[in-house]
Amino acid sequence: MSSSTLLVEKNGAVAVVTFNNPKALNALTVDTFEALEQMLSDLAEDQDVRVVILTGAGDKAFIAGGDIGFLATLDVAGARRFALLAQKVIDQIEAFPKPVIAAINGYALGGGCELSMACDMRVAADTARFGQPEVKLGIIPGFAGTQRLARLVGKAKAKEMIFTGEMISAADAERIGLVNRVVPADLLMEETQALAATMTDKSASAIALSKEAIDHGVEMDFARAARYEADLFGLSFATPDAQEGIAAFLEKRSPQFK
Ligand code: CAA
Repeated sequence: MSSSTLLVEKNGAVAVVTFNNPKALNALTVDTFEALEQMLSDLAEDQDVRVVILTGAGDKAFIAGGDIGFLATLDVAGARRFALLAQKVIDQIEAFPKPVIAAINGYALGGGCELSMACDMRVAADTARFGQPEVKLGIIPGFAGTQRLARLVGKAKAKEMIFTGEMISAADAERIGLVNRVVPADLLMEETQALAATMTDKSASAIALSKEAIDHGVEMDFARAARYEADLFGLSFATPDAQEGIAAFLEKRSPQFK
């Protein structure tokens, strides 16, 4: 499944996908997005995989943004096309039917920060730095960063990061709610794998339905969203996992989800 820009390693029920262009701090190209689109489709179908972790090669960067050398070649239509391709694949991360965790091992800048925000959770090394430095290049975030950042940390903090282009530390990213937790850099993969392991033994169908309820519901008004949740709650009763999970509780045993 690996490609020239992405490596994938499966370890039991967890797949680790590594952005692999450390010489350019894993900057994102059209090739990366095309490879990621295919890889996500394959991993979505792979019944053995329950959780996906995204990380960057090397100890310096998760992803330092879109490839600035490539951006330099773009005209108006080309820039829009690149943004739409990136958004399509980044939306695929958000809609992925299993949990996706970003293990952020260094710089998460521009498109890298934007891609991480589509993941369900972000675990950051204490050495990681976050930023939307596009204004320094005279451009704006184009991979839906203006939207996801504002939704995650609120408009004021999003505007501060986007208008100044300054980087923030992992500790500050945790304080404003941009990351779930910060861990020592040398324990990043261990801690992220441990977080993943707390999900692999749960009901995959219940996790997928919860993810859909949260991601779609949060964009609706409350009453519609609560109704949507009730619909999905009802649907969860049609799954074998609901029969097994409830029976296991009543029989005082551990559930065996398939
Ligand atoms: N695109 C292409 N190459 C990049 C890159 C990027 N986004 N970021 C870093 N690189 C390359 C550098 O050019 C350099 O290559 P060479 O060795 O061939 O010169 C290599 O990676 C290492 O980088 P530095 O020497 O600059 O490393 P540093 O430690 O001195 O600085 C850094 C690290 C602060 C992250 C700095 O590299 C930097 O500021 N990078 C650009 C960050 C940025 O502006 N990202 C936003 C891009 S725009 C975007 O993402 C648009 C969008 O989403 C729509």
